[in-house]
Amino acid sequence: MVASAAASFATPFKCSPLISQAFSGSTRSLQWRSNEKRNVRKAHKGVIKAKIDHRPPPYSLDDLEPHMSRETFEYHWGKHHRAYVDNLNKQIVGTELDTKMLEEIILLTYNKGDVLPPFNNAAQVWNHEFFWESMKPGGGGEPSGELLKLINRDFGSFEAFVSEFKAAAATQFGSGWAWLVYKANRLDVGNSVNPCPSDEDKKLVVVKSPNAVNPLVWDYFPLLTIDVWEHAYYLDFQNRRPDYISTFMEKLVSWDAVSSRLEAAQTLVAEREKEEERIKTEYEDEQDLELREMYLSDEDEPEAD
Ligand SMILES: [Fe+2]
Repeated sequence: MVASAAASFATPFKCSPLISQAFSGSTRSLQWRSNEKRNVRKAHKGVIKAKIDHRPPPYSLDDLEPHMSRETFEYHWGKHHRAYVDNLNKQIVGTELDTKMLEEIILLTYNKGDVLPPFNNAAQVWNHEFFWESMKPGGGGEPSGELLKLINRDFGSFEAFVSEFKAAAATQFGSGWAWLVYKANRLDVGNSVNPCPSDEDKKLVVVKSPNAVNPLVWDYFPLLTIDVWEHAYYLDFQNRRPDYISTFMEKLVSWDAVSSRLEAAQTLVAEREKEEERIKTEYEDEQDLELREMYLSDEDEPEAD
C-alpha cells in the first residue's frame, strides 16, 4: 500500500520561473557529449546517486478501482514510471543536469526540438507524476467556478470540451498524451513580439503530443492530461482506448486539481507580465536618461563659427 503523498508534490508549476527563464531568449547550449563521457566513467565507479524521485500517486494503488486496477498501477507506476526515473538518473549523474530541477532538465534537453538523450525519460517522469495527480478516487463529474467559466468561453460548453478532449486522446496515433492547457504565451519569434497582446491570447486549448513530449516545451501551462500509451490501459481495457478515455473523464478526473493548476497558472502569468513590464519600464527610463545626457552634453559644446 502506498501512502498518500498529495501534500508533498501538489504544486503544479514549481517550474514556471524556469520556464520563463528558458524562453526568455538566453537558451544555453549543453555540452552533452563531453558530460556523457564523464557520466559513463562515474557510473562505472558505482557512484550513481539518484536525484529524481519515483514519487507515488497521491492515493493508494487500489483507490481508483474498479476504473483503474491495482494491477495496472503495479505495472504502470511500479515498473514503467520507475524505469523512466532510474534511466534518467543514470543519464544525468555527473553531468551539468545533475543539479537541475526536473522541469529545467526537460526544457534544456528538448533543445528546440532537436532532443538530447535525457529528454524522453525526464519528460515521461514529469508526465506520469502529472497524470497521477490528474485523477482522484470518486473523480469525474463537472468542474465549477473560474475553470467552468473559461471552458464555456473557449469551447462553447463543457460537453463540447469533453468531446474535443476525447477526440484528441483517441486520435493520437501510437503512443502519446492528450492535454488541456492554459495558453498564455505570446507570439515571440526572434525580435518580433505580438504588438497587441490581449486577454484573448490567454485561453484554454486541447492539444495532443507524441511519445514523451509535453506542453511545457511550448510554454503552455498543462492543466489536465491522459496517458494514451497502451501500457496505461491494456490490462483493464485491452485495445478499447475509447472506453478507457470515457472512464477517465467520467469517473477519474480530479477537477479540483485542474482548478488549482489553472489558478497557479494565472498567478504565474500575472507575475511574469508584471516582471516584463518592470524590465520594459527600466529600459525606457535608461533610454530617456541617455537621451537627456546626450542633449545636455550637446548644450555644453561651444557653437562652431
Ligand atoms: Fe504511462
